[in-house]
Amino acid sequence: MPLPRSLSVTSLSGLDDWTEEFDLGDAVLFEIAWEVANKVGGIYTVIQTKARLTSEEWGENYFLVGPYMENSVRTQVELIEPTNPALKRTIDNMNSSGCKYAAQCEEPPHILAHFHEWLAGLGLVLCRQRQLPVATIFTTHATLLGRYLCAGSVDFYNNLHKFNVDKEAGDRQIYHRYCLERAAAHCAHVFTTVSHITAIEAEHLLKRKPDVVTPNGLNVKKFSASHEFQNLHAHSKARIQEFIRGHFYGHLDFNLDKSVFLFIAGRYEFSNKGADVFLEALARLNYLLRVNHSEVTVIAFFIMPARTNNFNIETLKGQAVRKQLWDTAQTVKEKFGKKLYESLLVGQLPDVSKMLDKEDFTMMKRAIFSAQRQCLPPICTHNMLDDSSDPILNCLRRIGLFNSSSDRVKVIFHPEFLSSTSPLLPMDYEEFVRGCHLGVFPSYYEPWGYTPAECTVMGIPSVSTNLSGFGCFMEEHIADPSAYGVYILDRRYRSVDESCSQLTSFLLQFCQQSRRQRIIQRNRTERLSDLLDWRYLGRYYISARHMALAKAFPESYYYEPQDPSSGFRYPRPASVPPSPALSRHSSPHHSDDNDDDDERYNEDLEAEKDRLNIRQPHSPQYRDKSGLPDAIPVSDGDGT
Ligand code: UDP
Ligand code: G6P
Ligand code: GLC
Repeated sequence: MPLPRSLSVTSLSGLDDWTEEFDLGDAVLFEIAWEVANKVGGIYTVIQTKARLTSEEWGENYFLVGPYMENSVRTQVELIEPTNPALKRTIDNMNSSGCKYAAQCEEPPHILAHFHEWLAGLGLVLCRQRQLPVATIFTTHATLLGRYLCAGSVDFYNNLHKFNVDKEAGDRQIYHRYCLERAAAHCAHVFTTVSHITAIEAEHLLKRKPDVVTPNGLNVKKFSASHEFQNLHAHSKARIQEFIRGHFYGHLDFNLDKSVFLFIAGRYEFSNKGADVFLEALARLNYLLRVNHSEVTVIAFFIMPARTNNFNIETLKGQAVRKQLWDTAQTVKEKFGKKLYESLLVGQLPDVSKMLDKEDFTMMKRAIFSAQRQCLPPICTHNMLDDSSDPILNCLRRIGLFNSSSDRVKVIFHPEFLSSTSPLLPMDYEEFVRGCHLGVFPSYYEPWGYTPAECTVMGIPSVSTNLSGFGCFMEEHIADPSAYGVYILDRRYRSVDESCSQLTSFLLQFCQQSRRQRIIQRNRTERLSDLLDWRYLGRYYISARHMALAKAFPESYYYEPQDPSSGFRYPRPASVPPSPALSRHSSPHHSDDNDDDDERYNEDLEAEKDRLNIRQPHSPQYRDKSGLPDAIPVSDGDGT
């Protein structure tokens, strides 16, 4: 029995309410994508995170269709029998006749089919060509031609209107795929894309302006104690530090507590993802930190999957050596403790010189000996199949970042997505992000860019660009993004060299922050997360679906177009005068590096925000006119 459904997307603090009265009647929604239960990149994240909100609206009438990958089915899919008789008959028929289409319902429901990307787009084109009674949506998360053009050395954004699209697609041998994408975009009742920047691109390259822009959201986790995410940072950071102890064994001549962890992650598209700009900025940063005799060491991680032949021996050995040193320390500690205990039991102070015997010293010497190393700590954690032509490795060779002692910037290239089951760095991606200090995503081609969005909701600052959907979206909604830890690099109006200089200066400023300033900034970053929650952003997908049903079945559905955009802007955080609760602790032992103190500080900060009721800015359309400097105030307040 179909339920009449309509959905209102509720307000999150500071952001407006939005309701769209729409009776879905008996409609059934199919969402089709290559990345359903198949992790390739960000489209998987869209489908996976959006599923909850979509099910809330569509209940049992929501179906996701993806490729059958044995491994993913085993780990991600719970096999069930369909309850809907029409669907059951269809699936049985498909199974018995090898995926042949059969709609055999006496009273077919209204079907809405939402196709993502050109790979699924063929289904859409066939639906229309065969005049099936199906409402269709096509969402493209990038254009094929745009991705290819940008990966070459083309001045893409200044020439969008000039490209001879057929020729360009033909030259790159993607003509057939390009035609499929363009056909799907044109055949769809509703065409959508993930950002305004990609909407412009689609208009020029696919020759259809999207009907709706559907920005990507996330499921934001709320903790009962709002500073809990800071504790998670400290916890995950400690695990990354452990990994680094192993990776740099024999060369641990830098202070891990004064180390800053930066990372870039995503599909390996060297220049589209801005890995080239990041590497160049790292080389410049290394120089600046060295000449300034900085105490800070930067560890930059590259998490980009490439062709490999598993972990390399040197990297695995590093973790084994670390473990051996740890075990040795534990054994000696236990023996030491036992002797100490025995001595106290008989009422004597121990003779410290006799606490360790020759055997203990031999064991420790052996452990120290095994931790000596002739070579430098490896850059890459895996055996690369294309080592000599790999763009990251070649760039590192050119700029001379080799993890040497004098380098203040060290690099670790992990050419595989992270996993909690890894023998090397057993952390999943989310844990890893939480433990880092800054995500760096200086993309040139990035229709949305989930990676900086994920950083934001975890309270980790990030760098994105004004050529990424995410960066533009944040610029639109925040008066001073960098004060909130959202650094937006200008890659639109500057040359590559100028963008590298700007990124270097962001990174240098970041490295000069004290721990206290980083904590304040993380608090601010995390406060933006409501803006990226599907509970707010889901409204665009909802609109697109209602629009498609009304276009395909005008006799059954009526859609009143409404603009779901809120026009909300986060105001710039302004400094507040120190209040007693926010003032620094008067302990003479206070230092920026005192963890207990930081925890107390976090709690004070949260309590003070509750007292002042200043958790979220409530003034829409606020634009700062104060002209305050960009730097984070070192005042005692968090600046809100
Ligand atoms: N990602 C992951 N594991 C990793 C690194 C990245 O699952 O070790 C995911 C990340 O969570 C993000 C996606 O890869 O959701 C990359 O999406 P994005 O939109 O940034 O770029 P895309 O690869 O789709 O171009
Ligand atoms: C969180 C924790 C603090 C810790 C700090 C480290 O705020 O709650 O206890 O001192 O992280 O911050 P850092 O930026 O130095 O990693
Ligand atoms: C594509 C884009 C990426 C976007 C993702 C999800 O893979 O490259 O920028 O975040 O789709 O929409």
